[in-house]
Amino acid sequence: MMLDSGGVQMATALKHAALCLMLLPRFLLTAVMLWLLDFLCIRRKVLLQMGQRQKSPDDPPVCVSDSNRMFTLESLGAVWYGQKLDFFKSAHLGSAAPNTEVMLVQERRQVRILDCMKGKRPLILNFGSCSCPPFMTRLAAFQRVVRQYADIADFLVVYIEEAHPSDGWVSTDAPYQIPKHRCLEDRLRAAQLMLAEVPESNVVVDNMDNSSNAAYGAYFERLYIVRDERVVYQGGRGPEGYRISELRSWLEQYRNDVARSQTAVLHV
Ligand SMILES: *[C@@H]1O[C@H](CO)[C@@H](O)[C@H](O)[C@H]1NC(C)=O
Repeated sequence: MMLDSGGVQMATALKHAALCLMLLPRFLLTAVMLWLLDFLCIRRKVLLQMGQRQKSPDDPPVCVSDSNRMFTLESLGAVWYGQKLDFFKSAHLGSAAPNTEVMLVQERRQVRILDCMKGKRPLILNFGSCSCPPFMTRLAAFQRVVRQYADIADFLVVYIEEAHPSDGWVSTDAPYQIPKHRCLEDRLRAAQLMLAEVPESNVVVDNMDNSSNAAYGAYFERLYIVRDERVVYQGGRGPEGYRISELRSWLEQYRNDVARSQTAVLHV
């Protein structure tokens, strides 16, 4: 028995070590980048370059005020957490969409994420929180996409953990200062603010186990499209990989495909 538990402990330790080794290079790279970004001359140059590269009005460039430190214990913790979630997520392009438990903000009713699908229509999942500046600045573009494609797709904002909680990696650029949610009520209250910003979308909150966040590797923010209960689009991790322009292109392509199949039916 003693040997067995020792063996199990050994296996767990090995698994942790392997995990660290796999995640470490990417984490260290990000850490160095955050450290460099704390030199304001570098930060301004990088942000300027990123802004010039970003051509689409759907994805306004990310701005970070000079007063915000990027390299702190909290920021490193948040980055490590996000990269770990991304590594262990179960949502992958082409595979079954995780059907996690969420709560409808308005009705305060527990449902599963795929309950929000309407037949064969694609469901757009937009994961994020009110304390995330890039997510919030792109919300206007998201709204434009919602309006433009509401006839062929459904949209769901999934409110997850705060990206920049006021008692964690604070950002003064965030439109709202919200502490870490300690209970579901906290999360529902924060999501109520989101609902006011996106009145045309449905808003649900993740549960306090953060199941949706984990299954979709969503933190800090992320976009997905689900159709026939499968993941048909998986956006990159926010903030750098979070692109409303990609969502728009997918929907435009989908609209064309639908139109083509309808004319094909008419010709038969
Ligand atoms: C989920 O996230 C909240 C922060 O919003 C945290 O307080 C809670 O401990 C997390 N739950 C788990 C199971 O990690």
